[in-house]
Amino acid sequence: MEPRISIINKRLQNVKRVVVVASGKGGVGKSLLSSGLALHLEKKGCRVGLLDLDFYGPSSHIILGVHDVFPQEDKGLIPPRVSGISFMSLVFFTHDKPAPFRGGDITNVILELLAITQWGSLDFLIIDMPPGIGDETLDVLRFIKKSEFLVVTTSSKVAYGAVEKLLVILKEQKIPLLGVVENMKQGSSSFVETEVVGRDIRYLGGILFDPHLEDAIGNTDSLSKTTFMKELVVCFDRIFF
Ligand SMILES: Nc1ncnc2c1ncn2[C@@H]1O[C@H](COP(=O)(O)OP(=O)(O)OP(=O)(O)O)[C@@H](O)[C@H]1O
Ligand SMILES: [Mg+2]
Repeated sequence: MEPRISIINKRLQNVKRVVVVASGKGGVGKSLLSSGLALHLEKKGCRVGLLDLDFYGPSSHIILGVHDVFPQEDKGLIPPRVSGISFMSLVFFTHDKPAPFRGGDITNVILELLAITQWGSLDFLIIDMPPGIGDETLDVLRFIKKSEFLVVTTSSKVAYGAVEKLLVILKEQKIPLLGVVENMKQGSSSFVETEVVGRDIRYLGGILFDPHLEDAIGNTDSLSKTTFMKELVVCFDRIFF
């Protein structure tokens, strides 16, 4: 019996919803969507936390422009607030150095982060996942029973091919799935929408490739004004408000 599992349940007892942003494929926009969703929910008056669980390629701190803050110790670690969001990432401890882990170590770090973090009362905890269906995804399914998945793909058949496998696993395991977002949508193909709807899964909409998004990374005010954010709001307000 792993004692930290019971602590995790306690730590998350005042978190109403846990939204896991995942994809079978890398580079599809999970991190941008996680940060964007967290910022939007906070603007709507929700209490929001954001947890970056991508240990190899953490990027939420870059997107949010996190500088010179650190979790505060008080019977655990209280995440610093970044643009109103309670933010936790392994980069606070690795100082942005590479953090290569084997399978067992990943589980250990996830358990430790979840057991140590004092989120307090939240309406939403958003989790930015690494790509694929590896240890992190399996551990989240194991340790956070109230997880609801939000799956990201691009319009590419190659990306969707990998994403479809995640959709199958979620269905097999009866994990709540909020829907699929088609990010960096290009052209007018309805391939992804048709496939998703054909699986009886909610298609949340498409977000076009925004050529100005890169300039806004690291500045949450600029990010909030992008076309990317405007389209994101349309996709997510369908399910959250
Ligand atoms: N709608 C969009 N328009 C333009 N650029 C985008 C869009 N969505 C994401 N990007 C860009 O695509 C790149 C990948 O995005 P992001 O890092 O969020 O993907 P990811 O799925 O989290 O990647 P990883 O699998 O490595 O974690 C980033 O440079 C990001 O700025
Ligand atoms: Mg990412």
